[in-house]
Amino acid sequence: MAGLAELARAHVVGWGIGLLLLGVLGFAAYWALVLSEGAYFGPRVVAWLYDRTAARYDRIKNSQPADDARYLARPLLLALEAAPHPLVLDVGTGTGRVPAALLAEEDFGGRVLGVDRSSGMLGQASCKPGLVSGRCGLVLADAGSLPVGDARFDAVTCLEVLEFTPRPRAVLRELARTLKPGGVLLISNRVGLDVLWYPGRLCGRGRLEAVLQGLGLEVLETEAWQTYYDLIWARKASSAGFGDRAGMQRG
Ligand SMILES: C[S@@+](CC[C@H](N)C(=O)[O-])C[C@H]1O[C@@H](n2cnc3c(N)ncnc32)[C@H](O)[C@@H]1O
Repeated sequence: MAGLAELARAHVVGWGIGLLLLGVLGFAAYWALVLSEGAYFGPRVVAWLYDRTAARYDRIKNSQPADDARYLARPLLLALEAAPHPLVLDVGTGTGRVPAALLAEEDFGGRVLGVDRSSGMLGQASCKPGLVSGRCGLVLADAGSLPVGDARFDAVTCLEVLEFTPRPRAVLRELARTLKPGGVLLISNRVGLDVLWYPGRLCGRGRLEAVLQGLGLEVLETEAWQTYYDLIWARKASSAGFGDRAGMQRG
């Protein structure tokens, strides 16, 4: 009898360990593919995952055009006031959130180039009526190696992208490189508890600002945005002829 009880206990312990291992493996897979969106498998996997969700992305995300106008497009226009026909680069443009928000503004007289690694996301962007015009270009490329020359853009934006790239600092260098002297940079930084899902990436309040300063950018402002992000506004050194966003807001 004692032997049978022991066997049953060993059986239960074995099953318990097996289930625990399955749980750990299941959570690891969920973290790697869902919570961190494939970020640790490299840009190809990230792009592949975005290709798969592209058609549903806008519905899942549910970004409100009014919020994008208020937090992104209008402050950008304000910062670009001194450039009547600004050239804007949006890196990791996805379904074209920033181009759409800018082109919806009557006062925006410039052009936008959206770059993304996912052809599916760009495909969705290209279906948006406002983005099929001579004022918006969409290009398939990696954020870490942008196919554009130095100092070309009056503003460079990169929202909800850095945490998915293997070398966020290299991306920041690319953003700074493509920006004209005096140009405006707008990036997002993932903060709060979400940072836990991105170990080793450029996260945490204040750290990204320090990196930008090291790249010769003056940080103008950091503000909370959506639930898990900060928006960071910065300007490349030598701002002749450019609006001071912080100053204009105060005024
Ligand atoms: C969360 S979405 C954000 C899209 C858009 N910026 C927005 O705010 O709606 C992240 C986007 O970054 C793109 N992305 C991720 N890694 C990239 C990389 N290494 N190069 C270019 N785009 C990348 C993805 O394909 C996806 O479209």
